[in-house]
This record gives sequence, structure tokens and C-alpha cells, in this order.
Amino acid sequence: MNIFLDRTSPVALRDQIVAYFETQISLGVFPGGMRLPSVRTLASQIRVNPSTVREAYAELACHDMVEGQGGRGTFVRMGHGPAAPLAIDLDVAREDPHRSIVYTTMVAPGRTDIMSLDQQVPAPHLLPFVDLDLATRHIWNPNNQALHHFGDPQGLFALRERLARLVAWRGVTRVRADDLLVTSGVVQGLFLCLSLLCRKGDGVIVESPTWGVALSMLDHLGLVARPVPLTPEGMDIDEVDRILKRRRARAIVTVPCGHNPTGVSSSVEQRTALLDVARRHGVPIIEDDIYGLLGLSEEEAPSLLALDDERAIVFSLTGVSKSLGPAFRLGWMVPPPRFLDRFIATKQNLDLHTNHIVQYILERYLALDRFDAHLRRTRGAYKEMRDARIGAVRDVLGDRAEVYEPAGGFALWVRLNGGMPAREIVSRSLRDGVYATPGACFFPVDKEEEGDRFLRLSFTLPEEDRFLSGLRVLAKAMRSAAAA
Ligand SMILES: Cc1ncc(COP(=O)(O)O)c(C=O)c1O
Repeated sequence: MNIFLDRTSPVALRDQIVAYFETQISLGVFPGGMRLPSVRTLASQIRVNPSTVREAYAELACHDMVEGQGGRGTFVRMGHGPAAPLAIDLDVAREDPHRSIVYTTMVAPGRTDIMSLDQQVPAPHLLPFVDLDLATRHIWNPNNQALHHFGDPQGLFALRERLARLVAWRGVTRVRADDLLVTSGVVQGLFLCLSLLCRKGDGVIVESPTWGVALSMLDHLGLVARPVPLTPEGMDIDEVDRILKRRRARAIVTVPCGHNPTGVSSSVEQRTALLDVARRHGVPIIEDDIYGLLGLSEEEAPSLLALDDERAIVFSLTGVSKSLGPAFRLGWMVPPPRFLDRFIATKQNLDLHTNHIVQYILERYLALDRFDAHLRRTRGAYKEMRDARIGAVRDVLGDRAEVYEPAGGFALWVRLNGGMPAREIVSRSLRDGVYATPGACFFPVDKEEEGDRFLRLSFTLPEEDRFLSGLRVLAKAMRSAAAA
């Protein structure tokens, strides 16, 4: 458990521990029924006297947040956590399958009555909280200019300089601070690209399946998804060529590393071929490189941005949601230079500039020069977690399902055997409080039946024992769906 205690603070350690648990419990991060670490374990982990932890637990019990269960330990009381903002209703998802992805990523993890087996976020225990806390320390002071002014719409210059170095680390040395635009995550970068490069009614090539949020954004902008099957090597290039020959698409959106939901990372040959076909037809590629810093292969292929020598057709997007957490809402994009001014102007009209405080915190964090070590450590840990969770899925679901090994990303893509539609299975598992994302969320609406053969899970969250118990509920739902 990563509790950061500020030993220089006038706030007593006991009160800091109470505040930590109160926040986690009321946010629903620690759900009802969860067992807290024993007094001794926690005391030795956070290097405090056991009596300090004992007193903190007693105070939490006084606030009705936890309860002792006759010598079995201390547990979070049921019924805490945020009020459910929306009911999970797969009938709504049936009418609009992309909505349920919103449940998965935004709503289900915050609910204490539902355990989501599909949280595409970094494992909390791997986040560099101490360094982030250090980076945040000196922010609140009157001399910090970042607090008092509107910011540069392109992004804080000091941050852009550090990001340019990070981009160089991914094999692109030609990008300087002035070539980058800081965004509120990849999502904003994607929105800018699609709205500036396409007009209502245009076709956009996407991998099939693909990230549901991208599909819902296409719908929102009145654009038409042109799904291209994803092979184990990446997008089917011949199909891309066929669509472009018929002039039926104005842009290509691709997730080349750790594709969501399948975990496929395309080879350098496939990336080069995609660039060739896009160049031949003069069509831009929007590269969603959100998992680029966290690839799990031994040899990571260069990004499309690195392969686009002339910096002419690739619009590359990435961010820190997967390495530092989605709460940052911070990303950056590198468009071809001739487009940069238009992007900055449009971004300025959207939000003037990305949250300055968060940009400042990221800049301070990168200045510590420990991001690289953090990424190396997390990649190693994620490989182990991936392998362990794949083993668990195989053990618990047996021949009812087949799970693919992801080369990146956080998703486990599960193919269902036996013909029971994923949405039916999830409807049943929800009755026992367990959620997984039905595959339909990753296919355009007219192809959602294809998605019914798949489920998406995550290997980063929830923790291993909860993941296992959730899988058992899923297995039960599969059995009961098959028997019905
Ligand atoms: C493929 C893909 N792109 C982008 C994102 C989100 O990016 P951001 O949080 O930077 O907006 C996700 C998150 O799940 C994702 O899977």
C-alpha cells in the first residue's frame, strides 16, 4: 500500500493515515468488504509505530468507515463510496454500444457495488507517488509564475522542451519543443485531428476492432468509420489500399503499439507498408501512440512518427494516462509542421490552454529524471502481471474462452467459445456485481454482432485476488448462459 507520509508536516502521522483511508474509501477505490492490511503489516510498510496504525483504524471505525470482524481483521464497511451516478444498463448499451465503454472506464470503477474486471489504468501500486509528491511540493507559492497567468496555448515551454527529449527517446530526434502541442490527453488530440482534417460525412479508416471512444467520437463528428480487419501483424494493408483507391476515406486512425482492445503491436515492416500506402494516396495517418512508452515486446518497432522521415503525413498523439494515470488528463501531439499553427489556433478556441498546474507538475516530475527508470520498472512488472493474469483466465474459464497475449497495452482480449453472446454473459455477471466489457463496444454499430464473440478484461486492475474472484463470477455467468 503506497501511503505517502509527510514527516515534516505539522499534521500528525495518525491523522495523515486516517485522511488517506477516508479518501480511498469515499472515492470507492477501497470498496465495501475490502480487508485492510493488518496493523503490523501496515506499520512496518510505512515505518510507523503499530500503535499509530491501531489508533488510525480505531478512528476510522468511529467514523463508521471500517469495522473489525472478530479477529479476522479490519474491513471497509459496505455502503461507502460515491453514490451510483448511473445504473449500468446493458439495454442502453445495446442501443448504443459505445456508451458502455464509458461505464467501464469512467463509472464502474467508482462504484462500490460493481467490480470491473476491465480497468485500463495503471496499477496503483506501481505509480511513482513519492516523486509526484515531490514534484507537487513547491507549487503553491506566490512566486510561481505558472499560477498567475494564462498559459501558452501551445503548452508550457519548459514542459515542451522536456517532452521533445522524451520523443527523441522514442527514436525521433527531429522534434523540438516548438514542434509539439500539449493537449488534454490523446482524446483532445484525436478530436483536433478529426475535426481539422475531415468534414462531416467523410470516411475514416479504423482498425476493427478498435478503441470504443474513437468510434463514439467519429459518430459525434458525423464521420463514417471504415473498419479494416486487424491481423496479428496490424491493419490489413491490402484492404486499406482498396478503400483508398475508391477514395472512401480522408484519414487513417491507428494504434500501432499495444492496440486497444487486442494488444497487437505491428511490426516495422507493417508500419512501413502503411506509411507507403498512405503516402501513395496522400491520406494522413493519425497515430495513437498512448502505449508507446509501455510496449512489452523485447524489440519495440519505431513509432510511425519516427518512420515518417519527411514529417509530412503522420499526426502523432500520446500522453501520460497509462504511465502516470488518467487523472493527469495530459498529452501531447506532433503534427506535420505545416499544420501546427492551425492546430494551436483551434486548441486556443477550445480551452485557451491545457491546465497549467498539471503541466507544471509534469515538468517538475520530468525534471527529477526518474521517468525512464519508472517506465523500465513498470514494463517489467506489467509483463509479470500479464502472464499471471493470462494463466488465471485459462485456469478459471478453461475451454470456454481463449485469451490472446498482448504485446502492449493493458487489455486482455478474450475470444468466447460456445456461441453465448458476450452481452448476455455480462448481463448475468452484473447480477453478481462483476463487469467486463462486451466486445460489441469495439466494433462499429452495424458490426456489433461480430463483437459478441469477445470480452475485454484488464491485467492491471483489480488486484489479483479480486480479479480471480471476479473471473469465477464470469465463469458462473457463462455456465448459466449456456444452460438457459
Ligand atoms: C487507444 C487509446 N487511446 C487513448 C486513450 C486515452 O488517452 P488519454 O487519457 O491521453 O486521453 C486510451 C485509454 O484507454 C486508449 O486505450
